[in-house]
Amino acid sequence: MAKILITGGAGFVGSHTTKDFVDHGYEVAVLDAFHIYVLPIQEWFLENMNYRFQYLLKDARIERGSTLNKDDLRRIIVDFRPNRIVHFAALPLANVAVRKSEEAFQGILQGTVNLLEILRDLDFVERFVYISSSMVYGDFEKVPVPESARKSPKDIYGGMKLAGEILTKVYAQRYGIPYTIVRPSAVYGPTDNNRRVIQLFLERAFRKQPLQIRRGNDSRLDFTYVKDLAMGIRLATLSPQAENQEFNITYGESRTLDDVVQILRHYFPDLQVQEVQDPETFRPRRGALDISKAKRLLGYSPQWPLERGLPEYIDFMQRYNVSITRSDNLS
Ligand SMILES: NC(=O)c1ccc[n+]([C@@H]2O[C@H](COP(=O)([O-])OP(=O)(O)OC[C@H]3O[C@@H](n4cnc5c(N)ncnc54)[C@H](O)[C@@H]3O)[C@@H](O)[C@H]2O)c1
Repeated sequence: MAKILITGGAGFVGSHTTKDFVDHGYEVAVLDAFHIYVLPIQEWFLENMNYRFQYLLKDARIERGSTLNKDDLRRIIVDFRPNRIVHFAALPLANVAVRKSEEAFQGILQGTVNLLEILRDLDFVERFVYISSSMVYGDFEKVPVPESARKSPKDIYGGMKLAGEILTKVYAQRYGIPYTIVRPSAVYGPTDNNRRVIQLFLERAFRKQPLQIRRGNDSRLDFTYVKDLAMGIRLATLSPQAENQEFNITYGESRTLDDVVQILRHYFPDLQVQEVQDPETFRPRRGALDISKAKRLLGYSPQWPLERGLPEYIDFMQRYNVSITRSDNLS
C-alpha cells in the first residue's frame, strides 16, 4: 500500500486529508511547521488543535519541520520513502498574502521549489500532488468554471498559487515527476482556525451577535465541506487517471451568503444580520466550479451540501469548541 507524505498535514484541510488516507489503510507522515496566521489566538484555537491531534492525526507520524528547511525535507523524504506526496504547506489566506507578500512567496513558491528540487534526484516518489486554489482563475468568465478556463489571477495569493502550478509542471516535464494539481475553493468545516466566513458566522451566531454580510464580488461561492475535499484529494492522489492532470475539487454548486444565513436560522432562530460594505475589491467574481472531470475520471462524488455540512460543523463546535458554545460563555 502506498505511503503518503503530507506537507502542511497538521493544518485544517491537511489533517482531515490525513485521517481520510489513514481510514483507508494508508501509512501517512505529516511535515508541518505549525504556523499561526490569524491573531489574536482565540481559546478555541487550542481546542481545534487538540481535536486534530487526538482524532484526525492520531495514527500518522508527525514531524515538526518546514518546507523552507531543506534538511527537514530531505530527511523526512529519505527516511519515510513516500510513494506519493500531497503538498498543502503554504500561506493559505489571500488577504494575509497581500500584507505578508514575502512570507507568501516563501511559503507558496520557495517551499514548492525546495520539494521539487529534492524530487528531481529521487525515483521512488510516484506522484507529486500540488494543492492549488480556485483563485488562479481570477474573475470566473464562465460558470461553472472548467479546468481549461483562462488563468488570470487578480491578487498576490492567486498569482503565486498559479506560479506554483507552472513550476510543478515544468519540473514534472523536465525530470519525469508524475504530478496532479487540485484546485479547491471556499472550504469549511471542523477545526478551521483561519476565521473564514462560515467560521466567523458561527462564532457570532453562538455569541448571539449579528452576522456581518459583506456584499462584495465574491458573494456567490462554491462552499465545500472539508470531508468532500479530503475524499477528492485522496482519489486524485491515488488514481492512475489523475496522473499529469488538473482537477477542480469542490461541491460544484454556487451558493450565496444569504443561503448560508437561511440554513443557520434553523439552528439559531434569533439570528440577526448586518450588511457591511466590502472594501476589499481585489476579490475576484466567483461562483461554481465545474467538477465533471473529477466525477468522470476519479469517481468523485461530493456528499456534503451546505444543508448537511453546516449542521455537522455546528454539532462539532457544540461538542469541542466549548470555550465559545457553552451558554455561560455567551455574552
Ligand atoms: N481552506 C480553503 O478554503 C482553501 C481553498 C483553496 C486552497 N487551499 C489551500 O489548501 C492548503 C491548506 O489550507 P488550509 O485551509 O488547511 O490552511 P491551514 O493554515 O489550516 O493549513 C496550512 C498548514 O501548512 C503549514 N505550513 C505552512 N507553511 C509551511 C511550511 N513552509 N512548511 C511546513 N508547513 C507549513 C501550516 O503550519 C498549516 O498547518 C493551502 O495550500 C491553501 O492554499 C485552501
